[in-house]
Amino acid sequence: MIKPGLIKLCAALLCVIAGLTDGSDVTQTPILWKNKGDNATIDCRHTKGVDYYQMYWYRQLPGERMRQIVYTTQNTKPDYEPEFTMERFSATKPDALSGTFTVKNLVPEDKGLYFCAVRGAQCDTGREAYFGKGAKLTVLEPDHDVTPPTVQVFKPSEKECKVKTLVCVASGFYPDHVSVSWEVDGVTETDSVATDNTALREGKHYSLSSRLTVQSKTWFKPSRTFTCRVSFFNGTDTIDVEDSITGETDSGGMPNDTKMKIMQNAKLTYSVLIAKSFIYGVFIMFLVWKLKGLSGKQSSRERSCGLNN
Ligand SMILES: *[C@@H]1O[C@H](CO)[C@@H](O)[C@H](O)[C@H]1NC(C)=O
Repeated sequence: MIKPGLIKLCAALLCVIAGLTDGSDVTQTPILWKNKGDNATIDCRHTKGVDYYQMYWYRQLPGERMRQIVYTTQNTKPDYEPEFTMERFSATKPDALSGTFTVKNLVPEDKGLYFCAVRGAQCDTGREAYFGKGAKLTVLEPDHDVTPPTVQVFKPSEKECKVKTLVCVASGFYPDHVSVSWEVDGVTETDSVATDNTALREGKHYSLSSRLTVQSKTWFKPSRTFTCRVSFFNGTDTIDVEDSITGETDSGGMPNDTKMKIMQNAKLTYSVLIAKSFIYGVFIMFLVWKLKGLSGKQSSRERSCGLNN
């Protein structure tokens, strides 16, 4: 017997997967910048028509999966998921096309992305859910100064051969409302960029790293510029902080310690070969000696046979 809860969960998951479509039909407050203890209210409205009267609210905390908090319609009471309560979260649904969601008495752990989604009838009738682009909620802690990052780009390791990885580190910033972009000779790179999903907390500040992977022939061009730009939002403005490095000349592609290693390996191989041929030589000498001894014995036996005949 399958539990109804399980069916509900599966249906919800299917809805989430089906619902990850473009968010342009659903608009929501994009940024909330609040102090600890405040309330944060997110508005959501959509242009899907009055059939899409169901509104769902989700949140995704840093490094976690998206979780549904509450489901609302115009005429019913908000339906909370078991782990969330109306003491902390409230939702309104004044009409079919809009709704609000509030996180009350904010704590730093509330910071994250909050999503609004709208849907027509139940998922099993085949109606898709449409998601907003998410609201980024920042909860400022007391005695923490808003500080932009310092940014540094590190050149790739000499040990890398075919591809080269440039590392960009943004550090010393608060809060963690940043985005990272890379440019090669002024052209934005989107492929082959990997940025940490969550910033690392170090005392009162955050750090974050991003990696750009390029072909080694792209790196080995001294006139080429590689730029890492970190856009930091300080509550009113977005401040860009960047650092750049230039490519290098290809010095035969082989760093000194690699050369050394190859030389050492060659020496070792050579010694092994010499040792092997020495052992082989000894073995041959032994065989020769053994064969000589044998033929000696044989001739003496022949001789004795000859005597018998
Ligand atoms: C944010 O940046 C702008 C522009 O640099 C500046 O005028 C403003 O004071 C900054 N706000 C905070 C809270 O640091």
